[in-house]
Amino acid sequence: MIDITKRFPGVVANQGVNFAVQGGEIHGLLGENGAGKTTLMNILCGLYRPDQGQIQLQGRPVQFHRPADAIAAGIGMVHQHFQLVERFTVAENLVLGERKQLWRDNPKRLHQRLRQLASRYGLDLDPAMPVWQLSVGQQQRVEILKALYRQARVLILDEPTAVLTPQETQGLIATLQQLAAQGTSIIFISHKLNEVLAVCDRITVLRDGQTMGTVAAADCDTHRLAEMMVGREVDFTRPERASRDRPEPRLRLEAVSVQGHHQRPALDAISLTVHSGEIVGIAGVDGNGQRELEEVIVGLRPPNQGTIHSQGTLAHIPSDRYTMGLIGAFSVTENLLLRDYRYPPFQRRGMLRPKVMAQQAMTLVNDYLVRTPSVQTPSRQLSGGNAQKVVIARELSRQPQVILAAQPTRGLDVGAIDYVHAQLMAQRDAGAAILLISTELDEILRLCDRIAVLYEGQIVGWANAATANVNHLGLMMAGKHPPETLSIPMAHDR
Ligand SMILES: Nc1ncnc2c1ncn2[C@@H]1O[C@H](COP(=O)(O)OP(=O)(O)OP(=O)(O)O)[C@@H](O)[C@H]1O
Ligand SMILES: [Mg+2]
Repeated sequence: MIDITKRFPGVVANQGVNFAVQGGEIHGLLGENGAGKTTLMNILCGLYRPDQGQIQLQGRPVQFHRPADAIAAGIGMVHQHFQLVERFTVAENLVLGERKQLWRDNPKRLHQRLRQLASRYGLDLDPAMPVWQLSVGQQQRVEILKALYRQARVLILDEPTAVLTPQETQGLIATLQQLAAQGTSIIFISHKLNEVLAVCDRITVLRDGQTMGTVAAADCDTHRLAEMMVGREVDFTRPERASRDRPEPRLRLEAVSVQGHHQRPALDAISLTVHSGEIVGIAGVDGNGQRELEEVIVGLRPPNQGTIHSQGTLAHIPSDRYTMGLIGAFSVTENLLLRDYRYPPFQRRGMLRPKVMAQQAMTLVNDYLVRTPSVQTPSRQLSGGNAQKVVIARELSRQPQVILAAQPTRGLDVGAIDYVHAQLMAQRDAGAAILLISTELDEILRLCDRIAVLYEGQIVGWANAATANVNHLGLMMAGKHPPETLSIPMAHDR
């Protein structure tokens, strides 16, 4: 990609970007939220046309007018937000848009072929499963399989590991290395610097839409990368904890069960209490009941058994910001005030007060470092990380007594993760009761006071964050019970 420029109203998303990938190479693309990574890749896969610049494939200029052109040229992209039809099966999603619908005559053969293709690349998938029943990690495998099925020679993955567990990430990396060894070029976008260094051959860094440079991973470390990204060093330390007043129970689940698919309970007699001034973590591999736990607490799904008590304003940072957190067509202002616009000062005598609303939105945009051309911009035009910051700003700015934070830093850059962690700790210190559901063990260990491990819908063990042993937690997350971690006495479990 040579001298690529792409403007949106109010933003230059890419400015004279140069980016080159070789055959069989895994090439990392790094940059802060809003730096222009997704835009550049959307140009490469034919979704956007550049205002300026040229794309060359094996030395020859090409022009993509639509995604089908890029697919035909062997470019496949796994998007930051999946593009699957939830009601369709895995197999149906894969053949969607194929001109010849021959497979309809023989779905069994198609399933068999897909199963072979999937297992060849270590992608564990059942082609007959409807997509809505799959975990986020499984849905991603469908997207990868879709690109492989269409014989992609350049495979773009936009933050593929943001939604994966450590084990799934290992699996994905093995798949990518295998593909690269066979000559496929891989473009790998991630905010996890260690991972990028471990997986990639070379790395290109974008800052404010411009290329900062391309470096060999072997000559580089996380400090240098962070500096190229943000122009300063980023510091990760766990701040001292403020002392807290007498803790009182704010969120209590008593023997909550939720029916799942295939007769198995998705949640099986979950009991837990979160007190004011503490963060309780739910660790676990994605797909073990996290989604159901989240939905049942916020009332999106009734429990089959058990009771849920919650006291005071509940803030919810949802795991899926696009279906549960934001309305894409609404502006940043409207999304920020989604819960509050009906009340003063945003309304007077039945009339909305757009100026007051815009002012509040601008304050939040500043405080939470949301990068947007304006507060009138529709939220679907924000970069992934900035969309997440809008949700976090709205939820945390309401002085909640209880916070349910599900994968709150998914897709955020290193600086933004640090910021969100600081916000959650400040809320805790102000007395909020926080339940943090996260598949990132590092995040759980950094923030939580107590940790519960969720496995196949059950809490299989508790640990105290200060004394937790990462290996034991990992074992519990995989369904194995190391005996010594099972019965640690908890300060507040009476
Ligand atoms: N369709 C669009 N319309 C208007 N502006 C857009 C659109 N897509 C992206 N932008 C803007 O272009 C800039 C770059 O966004 P982009 O999504 O490429 O960032 P990114 O590097 O992928 O960030 P993240 O890490 O948060 O995903 C941002 O300021 C974003 O708001
Ligand atoms: Mg992006």
